[in-house]
Amino acid sequence: MIIDEQDIMRIIDSSQYQINDAVKQRIKKDNLEYEPLNQTEFNKYILDFLHVLNDDLVVAGRDRQVAWHSGWNENLQEYIVTRDLDSLIPKYHNKNILAKLHGQIIRTETQWFDYKLHSYVVDTILGKHLNTASPAKVVEIGCGTGYHLFRQQDQFPQHKYFGLDFARSSQEIIKETNRPGVTGAYFNYFNPTRNVRLTDAIVYSVASLEQIGEDYHKFIQHIIAQRPKMVIHFEPIKEVFDTENNLLDYLHHKYMTKRKYLHGYLTTLQSLEKLGVIKIYDTRRLHYGSKFIEGHTLIQWSPI
Ligand SMILES: C[S@@+](CC[C@H](N)C(=O)[O-])C[C@H]1O[C@@H](n2cnc3c(N)ncnc32)[C@H](O)[C@@H]1O
Repeated sequence: MIIDEQDIMRIIDSSQYQINDAVKQRIKKDNLEYEPLNQTEFNKYILDFLHVLNDDLVVAGRDRQVAWHSGWNENLQEYIVTRDLDSLIPKYHNKNILAKLHGQIIRTETQWFDYKLHSYVVDTILGKHLNTASPAKVVEIGCGTGYHLFRQQDQFPQHKYFGLDFARSSQEIIKETNRPGVTGAYFNYFNPTRNVRLTDAIVYSVASLEQIGEDYHKFIQHIIAQRPKMVIHFEPIKEVFDTENNLLDYLHHKYMTKRKYLHGYLTTLQSLEKLGVIKIYDTRRLHYGSKFIEGHTLIQWSPI
């Protein structure tokens, strides 16, 4: 089977969003092939998952700053040699031949399947906000190597882009790529500072808030005080999993808990909405992800 535009619209499941021409061309050119698992393969996958849950897994949190710095520094060194922006795509996007699509585990032989599929969805959803003539400030928090930002800038060059991260090599990469209009800056979710103002900006995060467990209260206060125009998250969100009735959801939830990923964030936002402090515009489960985690539920909100 081959990923087509209908697959992307099925993932997004909303007529609010339209796939732009550049993304349509990538879908056609990339030709992402996949097959659903048969029963024997699925059973083997479940067994692997259970083994993984019994292993010592890397745990997210404050102690990971040095590890993120070194990881992105490897991409930086590769980029310095190749000068190819593809060197900045994190290697975790090409680690497994299994991934999740439409709620099921699939097998793929296509290199970078995980990344390419993800980029179509991220670009289509962000495109709704960025496809405007008037220049805006666009900020990615936890941007890592900045590869999502660079794609947005190629599609919508009228905006000013900022990539924030607590890993120093993230800022070094953005400097090295020397792209006018994209600036890197230090930012730590655990202790947010105002070195890049977020007021009226379009702020987004992709699989980075996941790294802070339950320690997001200062970040939320920071956002409320700074009053961005819109905050868009593509993050693993435990609250959407049906752990009573769905085996994969149960395992994803266990995996996130074991790795100390984001916990209670959506519930906290919903409480703030009830208090009239913020408005949530969209909460949308996208039913795709990598081998062990459905990592990209969409939440869009803003302070009132
Ligand atoms: C899984 S990577 C995601 C990177 C990129 N957004 C992507 O989609 O590939 C997590 C990112 O979050 C950053 N990060 C983790 N904890 C952070 C914190 N406390 N403050 C700021 N950035 C953090 C890491 O340095 C890393 O770049």
